[in-house]
Amino acid sequence: MEILPIGRTSFGNAAHAGNTLSREEAHTLLQEWVKNERLQLHMRQVGHLMRRWAAEKEGLDEADQWRWEMAGLLHDADWDLWPEQHCRKIIGELEKRQVCPAVIRAIASHGPRYFGVEPETSMDKMLYAFDELSGLIHAYSLMRPGGYTGMDIKGVKKRLKEKSFAANVSREDILDACQRAAIQQDELIGFIIKHQGEVGE
Ligand SMILES: [Fe+2]
Repeated sequence: MEILPIGRTSFGNAAHAGNTLSREEAHTLLQEWVKNERLQLHMRQVGHLMRRWAAEKEGLDEADQWRWEMAGLLHDADWDLWPEQHCRKIIGELEKRQVCPAVIRAIASHGPRYFGVEPETSMDKMLYAFDELSGLIHAYSLMRPGGYTGMDIKGVKKRLKEKSFAANVSREDILDACQRAAIQQDELIGFIIKHQGEVGE
């Protein structure tokens, strides 16, 4: 995966702080930009995890929960149609639509090794932390007869150690993200197991 650094560390306009797309606008953008259903599901899953984390762990209100969810929901929005412009295209679009800079920043920093933008806020760090691990746990759910039901942390950690399982999931990024967010990997895995299955296909 060759991705060019974004080349800047400031996003959006402070005057637009708190602005969001409506839920309908965000889902329309997702439908128009992301034809790949697996990718769409991944984004909805990460969006849901972000919302649940904002509510349960950060104690944020509905408006903030939606900002967190929106960052997750749109973080890979340009990957399907414009992989060579990944991240830059969606950043530009959200800036044009005058979306809250914190949401745009979270999207811009979801892969520090690729985009060169450091996750700073808890929203930034959690998006980075959920991204890869969510994908691995989804892959694991698909090979289990009960899906997420009965899945345990130990089983996920076993899959993490198997380099050939979901080989495109970067173990290095998962470790790095947990360290940056100062979260135990077990807590994060448990949280994803608990909530990811709530997202419909
Ligand atoms: Fe992603």
